[in-house]
Amino acid sequence: MRISVIGCGYLGAVHAACMAKLGHEVVGIDVDSRKIEELSAARAPFYEPGLEDLLREVQQTGRLSFTTDSSAAAGSAVHFICVGTPQKMGENGADLTYVDAATTDLLPYLAPGDLVVGKSTVPVGTAARLAVLVQAQQADAHLVWNPEFLREGHALADTLHPDRFVYGVNDGSEDHPAVAILDEIYSAPLSSGTPRLVTDHATAELVKTAANSFLATKISFINAMAELCEAAGADVTQLADAIGMDDRIGRKFLNAGIGFGGGCLPKDIRAFMARAGELGADQALTFLREVDAINMRRRTRVVELTRELCEGSLLGKRITVLGAAFKPESDDVRDSPALSIAAQLQLQGAVVTVTDPKALANAARRFPELQYEPDTGKAVRGSDALLLLTEWQEYRELDPYELAATLRNPHILDGRNVLDAAKWRAAGWNYRGLGRP
Ligand code: UGA
Repeated sequence: MRISVIGCGYLGAVHAACMAKLGHEVVGIDVDSRKIEELSAARAPFYEPGLEDLLREVQQTGRLSFTTDSSAAAGSAVHFICVGTPQKMGENGADLTYVDAATTDLLPYLAPGDLVVGKSTVPVGTAARLAVLVQAQQADAHLVWNPEFLREGHALADTLHPDRFVYGVNDGSEDHPAVAILDEIYSAPLSSGTPRLVTDHATAELVKTAANSFLATKISFINAMAELCEAAGADVTQLADAIGMDDRIGRKFLNAGIGFGGGCLPKDIRAFMARAGELGADQALTFLREVDAINMRRRTRVVELTRELCEGSLLGKRITVLGAAFKPESDDVRDSPALSIAAQLQLQGAVVTVTDPKALANAARRFPELQYEPDTGKAVRGSDALLLLTEWQEYRELDPYELAATLRNPHILDGRNVLDAAKWRAAGWNYRGLGRP
């Protein structure tokens, strides 16, 4: 099928490449000419494992192109809206400027029978509003909400082999003409057994925000347990293993640590609360305020613990932070708890050096006042304390014996509870985890 993908950021670039991989003819459209130049040269403008190889592979087939010209959408039967919905400046709600602009720019190029498919995370009610615009322009075109559930670092696999597809159509009916078209687009993953649900617009929009809210709640739940474990002298990692064995609970997303960050979970729970307020249902989501508060408390707790590790004062102490990205296998530093902790420590008088395999350029743009060192060995040398804040594999594999000799003081705070505490202590380290004795 001929497809246009509007917005070539994280979601759109991955979606465009994956749709071409599935055999469709795809044009990716974005207003950012730098991004389009990079993608046209099969270079990913951000780090995502496997994306550059995939871009190269599909561009060789001639099925994938990129442009800044929105008229390139003409002739495609399906138009995916993949632009960002960041948090509004100074408010909790989502900023819909880009979604609105992408839809309006597309309108003149719609032909009868076309589908406009929203993938961005939006407040409930957005699809119904945009559907009116689409139908006013082209009575025989349809707007569908088809939320995306990909995780950064696993984006290709999550797009090509998702857990489920959700199609939100205006009447919520399986017989809606959009259903057959989307089934054709996703025929490969559907034929390998991926379930798909047809819902109305509002349910599809809510599925996405509810899923992210549940994930955020799970993380904050275990972080609240970590607070309790610290108070009681218990071990949250064992607690998570034990409760996670109940398959009604499940072990995934029960890793206590410095909390969640990134461009999705934090802003999505806030936008969800804001939207519930507009709908007069704010009480239903007041618990998310607590989820957010628990999450932010993790950052303060790490600063306090680091002060303890540094014998009560951060002034002039040399601290090395391992990891700047909000999670491993990503160079994304949006609302990264690691970077926010690094900046807090620096504000409180420490001299902070941050290292990360992929995210240093983005981190330096966000917090130019911190020191950055790509080489882990150099970053660690002469340090008073080491903070492991993003659990890249190479940090999990560090040798505590080799490393101990290079620090001024062998203190380590394991912000992700991924190191073997006994092994590090045996190598002479003063090891602190979060929610562990
Ligand atoms: C999240 C969701 O997982 C995706 O399903 C969703 O599609 C995406 O948002 C989105 O809305 O686009 P992502 O932001 O890539 O994906 O990252 P996650 O893997 O969910 O991790 C979020 C944060 O939670 C990270 O900072 C991670 O370190 C933290 N986390 C995760 C924990 O602190 N503990 C855990 O047990 C798991």
